[in-house]
Amino acid sequence: MLVNMKDVLENAKIDHYCIPHFNINNLEWTRFILEEANQLNSPIILGASEGAVNYMGGYKTVTALVKALVSDLNITVPVVLHLDHGKSIEACKKAIDAGFTSVMIDASKETLETNIAITSEVVEYAHNRYVTVEAEIGHIGGTEDDISSDIAFAKLDDCITFVKETQIDCLAPALGSVHGLYKGEPKFDFELMKKIAKETKLPLVLHGGTGIDDVKILEAIKSGVCKININTELQLAWTEAIRNFLTEYPNIYDPRKIIKAGEIAMKEKIAAKIKLFNSMEHQN
Ligand code: 13P
Repeated sequence: MLVNMKDVLENAKIDHYCIPHFNINNLEWTRFILEEANQLNSPIILGASEGAVNYMGGYKTVTALVKALVSDLNITVPVVLHLDHGKSIEACKKAIDAGFTSVMIDASKETLETNIAITSEVVEYAHNRYVTVEAEIGHIGGTEDDISSDIAFAKLDDCITFVKETQIDCLAPALGSVHGLYKGEPKFDFELMKKIAKETKLPLVLHGGTGIDDVKILEAIKSGVCKININTELQLAWTEAIRNFLTEYPNIYDPRKIIKAGEIAMKEKIAAKIKLFNSMEHQN
């Protein structure tokens, strides 16, 4: 069943666990993630970035793909189809019109006032259609969809004002995480994280989930994080498995066999995150 973000995050917030957000890039990835989440009875968030949506053909293709897989594979866990880092109001509206159940509007590079104005417009459009909205304060650094940017830390007062003015459903405050691989040990301000969660009363989102050790992940969940985004870690696991497979079987050319060679490695990662986040077998 496709649900919106509120449907899964509210429970996670009350019971202090976290729902994994995995980025999807193609049919096979979507299938592997859905199958493993269903196997472990965990709600799941499928994140599609604008780059991934364009790669797969467009918003309607992605929605049709996810809905058809949920039906054909008899997926019974709640599934959120979420636009990751929508860069414009138009992109968010396109995703919503196509059937995405959740969108992220990322105007985090703008001033607070402009971020509020852009985000509010998306919230109005989304909420009228039972779609939820995530937005970012401060700026998460690193590289995503081949675009690199510097980190800017979120401030408590900005978060409070932003949430009050926009009425978003979950907040991604930049508190030290980056997309892609970390240079050195990631450092987080957990005290500020707790304060933001307490004052805004919203579930928090941690981007850049790759490369954060389990102790820090658990501390983040304790501090109010209810959704953690993971992309690079699955890419690394899948690519390593494919590389090994092609080295071992240089004469195989059937694309189904090649792409499938990453299935076990990916599913192991997905299962490990679901267990660490403790998202299985909760009532939603
Ligand atoms: P990683 O690629 O670092 O796992 O981050 C993913 C992410 O935050 C997607 O929004």
